[in-house]
Amino acid sequence: MARFILVLATAAFASNPSISADLDLPRQLVIGHRGASGLLPEHTLEAYALAIEQGAHFIEPDLVSTQDGVLIARHENELSDTTDVAEKFPNRKTTRVLDGREMTGWFAEDFTLKEIKSLRANQRLAFRDQSKNGKYTIPTFDEVLALVDRESTARGRSIGVYPETKHPTYHRSVGLPLEPQLITSLAQAGLTQRSDWVFIQSFEVGNLRALDDMTDLRLVQLLGFGAEAPYDQTVNETGLTYQDMITNNGLAEVATYANGIGPWKVLILPQDREGNPFPATDLVSRAHMAGLAVHAYTFRDEPRYLIKPYNNDPVAEYQRFFALGIDGVFSDFPSTAMRGLP
Ligand code: G3P
Ligand code: CA
Repeated sequence: MARFILVLATAAFASNPSISADLDLPRQLVIGHRGASGLLPEHTLEAYALAIEQGAHFIEPDLVSTQDGVLIARHENELSDTTDVAEKFPNRKTTRVLDGREMTGWFAEDFTLKEIKSLRANQRLAFRDQSKNGKYTIPTFDEVLALVDRESTARGRSIGVYPETKHPTYHRSVGLPLEPQLITSLAQAGLTQRSDWVFIQSFEVGNLRALDDMTDLRLVQLLGFGAEAPYDQTVNETGLTYQDMITNNGLAEVATYANGIGPWKVLILPQDREGNPFPATDLVSRAHMAGLAVHAYTFRDEPRYLIKPYNNDPVAEYQRFFALGIDGVFSDFPSTAMRGLP
């Protein structure tokens, strides 16, 4: 992958000394969440390319595995919410137990890459534009990396990739572990060093600890809400919850294997059931004290997703979070996020 050294040290690109002094990263990152997924079907090359065109510093592919062990970009291994798999393969519907829950549908690990390539992507959310349904294919992770390389070269700027391992315990249990192929694909793209623009993320803990021994690339511990537990911790009966992980001791432990946290934005700016905000928590400053970057998810333009005072003004919501000192946002609408940067 072509790498570019940023030579302009503008205020917007000043490094946070505690987090990214050695990384040449913009101080605050816009991460195209599933691409520009607010505008185009998620996890397609077209959605990633639009995110890059809109200025995103990173694009975010979620990863699952095909039957033949190829990593593809999908938010979940059950494919029917975002593809036409039900129409193309009506007889392949089945039931699986995924992370302890029974689920019926069409699962990526039951399909070869050749079969996956016959599918077309659909918009997940009914209230978003449906006009591009059926037009775009499902990309492999290697194709996403190639796109990033092409776009970096064409635009003369670094573009990062922020892959998430989806259901790592489950994938390992069906003989399709994600991590070896992830590291192989990144290495084939020339991405091996801590200074490369890569963050690998997971909601689980065990696979991040394993990845810490496998790679120098940076790792991010995703955080769900409250009493929920990472699924591998449930399986191993450790009792560890996300609530535990945001205590000072918990953050210090995360810092032994990861370089950042990816909290739900409500962990930073809590709100009541009606969406009214409480005062901001001190999670950002405590994470920084532990040496961890903070990349919050998920920012979306639609009023239903905005914290109440920011209804109809998503830029104001970004401005509030950036002012709280976060280091990055996962956004479905990268152009809006770019307008919220200081
Ligand atoms: O990875 C950050 C954010 O994407 C986590 O949520 O469910 O969209 O993968 P999800
Ligand atoms: Ca994700």
